[in-house]
Amino acid sequence: MARVSLKDVSKVFPNGNKVVDSVNLGVENKEFMILVGPSGCGKSTTLRMIAGLEEITSGSIFIGDKMVNDIPAKDRDIAMVFQNYAIYPHFSVFENLAFGLKLRGYPKIEIVRRVNEAADILGIKHLLGRKPRELSGGERQRVAVGRAIVRKPVVFLFDEPLSNLDAKLRVMMRTEIHKLHIRLQSTIIYVTHDQVEAMTMGDRIAVMKDGVIQQVADPMEVYDRPKNKFVAGFIGSPPMNFMNGRIIKKDSSLYFDEGRAQVKIVEDMYEKLAPLLGDEIIFGIRSEDIYDKLFVSDSPPENILRVNCEVVEPMGSEVYLYLNTGRHTFIARAGAHNRPRVNQNMDIVFDMSKVHFFDKKTEETIV
Ligand SMILES: Nc1ncnc2c1ncn2[C@@H]1O[C@H](COP(=O)(O)OP(=O)(O)OP(=O)(O)O)[C@@H](O)[C@H]1O
Ligand SMILES: [Mg+2]
Repeated sequence: MARVSLKDVSKVFPNGNKVVDSVNLGVENKEFMILVGPSGCGKSTTLRMIAGLEEITSGSIFIGDKMVNDIPAKDRDIAMVFQNYAIYPHFSVFENLAFGLKLRGYPKIEIVRRVNEAADILGIKHLLGRKPRELSGGERQRVAVGRAIVRKPVVFLFDEPLSNLDAKLRVMMRTEIHKLHIRLQSTIIYVTHDQVEAMTMGDRIAVMKDGVIQQVADPMEVYDRPKNKFVAGFIGSPPMNFMNGRIIKKDSSLYFDEGRAQVKIVEDMYEKLAPLLGDEIIFGIRSEDIYDKLFVSDSPPENILRVNCEVVEPMGSEVYLYLNTGRHTFIARAGAHNRPRVNQNMDIVFDMSKVHFFDKKTEETIV
């Protein structure tokens, strides 16, 4: 197994489109790295360059200690499961799994051994004789993964392999790929635009936007300490709430003023925020850090906001409340039995130790 590293890798398409911009990324041996970002940000292009299916415009890619820029795809010892994987409809599952090995001239006995082993790992041994049309979506998905496994590559690349599956099957396959990683002990780079997949599956997440990697860290680090407003808004569901406003000073304390309401900033944040007194700033708070005052026993009066509840969205285990200060709307999560009436005023409390501030111009995290 092997380490994969990208050094200043860029891709400019012939039409002048720079879709990957100086990407630096080190994926450790046996690591499960997630590459996540919105549609069109350059994820598939990055993966295809690692696989050798797309030429690199500048920079270099290493697999292990070897620079692979000039090594053709077939010699890179990488297997890729594509976004729109195609399994051959007229081949049986066995033949689909065996196909790549046959092409590479493996002896028959070795092919049979490897296909059986892969089918065993994926739980599709009983399907080896069937044709793809006789399989469910999830089973077809497993065949596509199986074709990668039989090769025993040093690195697996997955490009949104679950995007064709329904929601329930996605959740199931998510766990299976996770288990597969533990079993195969292989290096995996997994592309998705789904932030839930990103949070739950990987050892680390690389968040990409417009061809640029924004942050690489373990999932909770990305969630708790996003590097900028984009990452803060992209990772987490519902997304982080943002409000524009200013830092003001009252009775020697700092407050965030959003235009209508004001909340008191915790002293830990003074050092970073005091120099920005009076400046425009972006405030961020996650929906789970907002509470209904009725259920908070010792809420400091400075952190209570009077808001209007515009929508109540029951999610089963909890409810999402769409609240309005008169200037900003935002979402709070509350317990399932918490049902404020729509269009009524209510008092809520911010956990000010959990909030974030972003620079208005650069959108980088201040604290
Ligand atoms: N051959 C090409 N020539 C020019 N532009 C291209 C080419 N292939 C892709 N692009 C552009 O490059 C950008 C990145 O594409 P890419 O497929 O890497 O995105 P992605 O992050 O995988 O998106 P998705 O989540 O939709 O799969 C897009 O804006 C796309 O239109
Ligand atoms: Mg893609």
